[in-house]
This record gives sequence, structure tokens and C-alpha cells, in this order.
Amino acid sequence: MGEKSQELMEKIVSLCKRRGFIFPACEIYGGFANAYSFGPYGAELKNNIKRLWWKKFVHAREDIVGIDGPILLHPKLWEASGHVSGFNDAMVDCKKCKKRFRADHLVEELTGEDMEGRLEDMSKTLRDLKAKCPACGESDWTDARNFNMMFQTEMNGFDGTVYLRPETAGAIFSDFKNVTDSMRVKIPFGIAQIGKAFRNEIVAGNFIFRLREFEQMEIEYFIEPDADWQPLFEKWLDLQEEFALEIGLRKEDISRYEHPKEKLSHYSKKTIDTMYNFPFGVKELYGIAHRGDFDLTQHGKMSGEKLEYFDEGKNKRYVPHVLEPTFGVERSVLAALLSAYHEEEVKGETRVVMKFPKKIAPIHVAILPLSKKDELVDPAKKIFHDLKTSFVSEYDETQSIGKRYRRQDEIGTPYCVTVDFETLTDKAVTVRDRDSMEQERIKIEELVGYLKKKFEE
Ligand code: GAP
Repeated sequence: MGEKSQELMEKIVSLCKRRGFIFPACEIYGGFANAYSFGPYGAELKNNIKRLWWKKFVHAREDIVGIDGPILLHPKLWEASGHVSGFNDAMVDCKKCKKRFRADHLVEELTGEDMEGRLEDMSKTLRDLKAKCPACGESDWTDARNFNMMFQTEMNGFDGTVYLRPETAGAIFSDFKNVTDSMRVKIPFGIAQIGKAFRNEIVAGNFIFRLREFEQMEIEYFIEPDADWQPLFEKWLDLQEEFALEIGLRKEDISRYEHPKEKLSHYSKKTIDTMYNFPFGVKELYGIAHRGDFDLTQHGKMSGEKLEYFDEGKNKRYVPHVLEPTFGVERSVLAALLSAYHEEEVKGETRVVMKFPKKIAPIHVAILPLSKKDELVDPAKKIFHDLKTSFVSEYDETQSIGKRYRRQDEIGTPYCVTVDFETLTDKAVTVRDRDSMEQERIKIEELVGYLKKKFEE
């Protein structure tokens, strides 16, 4: 990571902790497993991103329905999907300091080559090039070997290993029959889900970029086997980018990476990742894959249930093919935080402002009385209670008005409403715009309408 990029990451991590967005989990116990908690503003931000996604891809469309499946699913499902046998990453241990690393990542950093799956080549490269351990600097490696990333657990009443789902997609496929039997879905149609996924990553890191417990927003979009899928695939790619722009990412930070044909699974026709220019490199933000009929066929075979669709128009039954657009929640949050972060010089001082798009800002409006005197506090609290029904609002009477503006800028509140002594006579308040810092005097009775209009802009 370059010095500037590292500085930006440090600023984001520090702001997130200081301002109640994201905390290291179990800090009182010394932290745990590179995990994080979302604080009050982080939870709002994350929920707003998830809500926006659900609105865009479920509510605003006629061809997609949403489900909410369990985390613990029948282990046969993960056998059918290939996760039990093949959901592996290559790991290698430093024999000196006993730290564990992703072998493919170490090799790629050294040679630029992606040796995915080629364990012997990875072991040889690390030895031949005398790769240094990033933790202790020694060069004494075990062989690279596969590590299955699914978390295992036990369940009362069930004999055998149970897994925490490593992706949300599994529940969508296992509910395919119930959805098609109970809903009036017509091909092409999608089933969407937002929820937790768990992966026992060998190395978690880069703040909330790679976690062991995270959330996905996924869609399985079912199409006819002989459908002209290329335009649909392109459309989904555009929609992924459109969503990224809606949460405030800059177009110039977004790119695409097509997985080489020879690396695709046998059933996949195409996989393209939407990449984001993170401070630690251009990395996967979202992905979309054409998975053919692999999943429904596999789950059909394993379960003994026919997972088919009856096409009334064509009077035929078939196993649909599927396009799978997938979005990471925490990566969306991290990219939104990075994109929103701005530093500006104002009257010789640095103003830090999070310029979130208004619809994902954790707090919409802050109500700030200029003094703690009852004559201002009372009308300010009344305005606060009136605004609360339409906007996520916050009331703050502590510290100087300058400090309160600074705090609201740092959490990205689009509007601050200041109640001052003039309010008592002109029945108006000052509304400050986060980005322009311009102030407008608005009659209290017109305030809700004024702000509603602003949020529609
Ligand atoms: N069902 C397809 C699937 O799970 P994936 O590329 O493995 O595909 C989808 O994961 C998305 O989930 C990624 O694009 C990324 O945004 C997010 N993701 C994957 N692993 C993650 C991790 N360890 N931590 C945080 N997000 C992760």
C-alpha cells in the first residue's frame, strides 16, 4: 500500500471508531479474529445500503421476489453445490513464527502470477524464490495445502457435521420449488436474499474488506436454457455499477475483471467481477456469474426432487439456467466510506466531511439549538420531535455550534437545523447544507416540506 493510501485507510479506520461507525469486536477482551461491530452510525449506513438494494432489486421490479432463508442448511446441500469437496483456499505456514498465510496471495505478490489450485507450483515458487514471511522475515515454509473454508458446527438431533452457510445462494436454490409453487413468477425471474455468510478465511484483513462473518446481497436470476443471455448478463453488470454509483462510488474507481475462460468452472459460461480501487489495490467489490443449470441439476439429483420450471407459454418443462449477481455488504460500506471521505480547507482549518449520498447518510437532519437556554431548547425539541416522523434526526445541544457542525460533517449529516434567538420572533430556523455549507432561513411550518424536497433532488 502506498503511503497516501495507507494514510487514507488509517483516517477511515480512526474516524469509524471515533464517530461510532465501526468498532473492533470484543475490544475489552483484546479484540477477536479481525472481526468488527457496526456502531450506531455504521448500523444505519449498512441498513440504508441494504434497504436501497432491496428497493432497487426487489420492490422496484416485477420479476424478482425476496426470501430470507436460514444460516444452517442441510449439509447435503453443500455437498451438492461442491462446497464440501472444493471450497478451499491454499494455505501455507511459516515454520519459524507459525503464522498462517494464503499461499496463492504470497505467490501472486512475488511473481504476479495467479496459481489458483496449483499447490505444488505454489510450494516450489515460495521455496525457489526464498519468499520471506511477512510476519518474521524468515524463509521456512510448509508445503501449501488446501483448507476448506466452511465453518463447522453440531446440531441437536442431527447426526453429522453442520455448516454455517458460506454464501446466501444455497437457500435460494433449496427454496426454488417452494417459490415457483407458491408465487406467480414467470421466466425470466429472480429470487433475492440478503443475509450473513461465514467463511473461515485463512487471513482476514484490510479492515472490513475480508471478514470471516459478513453479509451478502444475492440474486439468482433464472432464464430459459436457450435464452439470449449475453444482453441480460451485460444488463446485470450495468445494474451492479449503477448501484455502486448510487451509494456514492466514483465511476473512475470502478472497473471490470473478466475471469479467464480456462479458470472458469466447467458449468460456467462467464464470470465478471466489478472491481473497486481500494487503497490497498483494485479488488473485487461485486461479481456476476453465468452458472448454467449446475445448481438446480445438482440439488435435484441430491434431493431427489425435480427442480424444473413449467413454461406455460411454450408448454414445456425444463431446468432453467441462472445468472448470479452477488454484492458484498461490508465491501459496499467500505467503498462508500472511502468515497465519501473529503478534507477541505475552511478558514485555515481542515474540515473533514463525509459526503454520503443523502439516501444512505446515517442521520438525515440534526437539530441544534444555539444555546442551552430553555427558550431555545423547548422549540428545538419540538422541531426535533416533528421531524423525527419523516427523517432520521438527531438532537444535540452540547458544545459550541462550530464543534457540533464539525461532528455532523464527520458523520455525513446532509442538513443541520439551527434554532437561534431570532427563531423566537421570526418563527424560522437556519438550515445548513453539509456540502456547500450555505445557510438558508426557512419558516418552521415549511421545514418538513423543504427538507422532503431536498431529499427528492
Ligand atoms: N454466491 C457467489 C459468491 O458467494 P463470491 O465472489 O465468493 O461469490 C460474493 O462472494 C461477494 O461477497 C464478493 O463479491 C464480496 O463482495 C463478498 N465477500 C466474499 N468474501 C468475503 C469476505 N471474506 N469478507 C467480506 N466480503 C466478502
